[in-house]
Amino acid sequence: MEIRHNELIQMYPIGYVHNIFKEAIFDEKMYSSVSHIVLKEEFQDGLKDITDFSKIYVLFYFDRSEGYNLIQKRRYDGKIAGVFASRSPRRPNSIGLTLVELLEVKGNMLTVRGLDAIDGTPVLDIKPFIENDMAGDDLRSA
Ligand SMILES: C[S@@+](CC[C@H](N)C(=O)[O-])C[C@H]1O[C@@H](n2cnc3c(N)ncnc32)[C@H](O)[C@@H]1O
Repeated sequence: MEIRHNELIQMYPIGYVHNIFKEAIFDEKMYSSVSHIVLKEEFQDGLKDITDFSKIYVLFYFDRSEGYNLIQKRRYDGKIAGVFASRSPRRPNSIGLTLVELLEVKGNMLTVRGLDAIDGTPVLDIKPFIENDMAGDDLRSA
């Protein structure tokens, strides 16, 4: 297989986050607050059966982050660590990943609790959290 270096990968958001958090600053309240994710209508059918799951992963784009440091101080324990050993919003590909509680789905709108993305954040993907999914078959065949 040919290894492709510096390949540009383009993505369009599938939807956007709506909540009360307007600035990209750490706020503990995010982890207990409710957010809405409004999907573009063209993707609504992709939500079929998502309520089979009580938790979902939300992948999003840190659109208000600038730059990154490969080595930086990690928030949760203060350790000087590599960016890939941290959850920093300042990272090479600006991708965020959060496991949230799925509260409700109405049409193209999901209501979730615990999303640490601010208002207007572009959402790249949504995936269900499957208990024990690292065990194998579920993850590979889902
Ligand atoms: C520490 S990051 C962790 C995000 C996710 N749980 C992860 O691990 O990828 C969460 C912080 O990112 C910042 N943030 C949220 N949405 C953002 C956005 N759209 N652009 C830039 N920073 C954002 C906020 O300050 C928030 O407290």
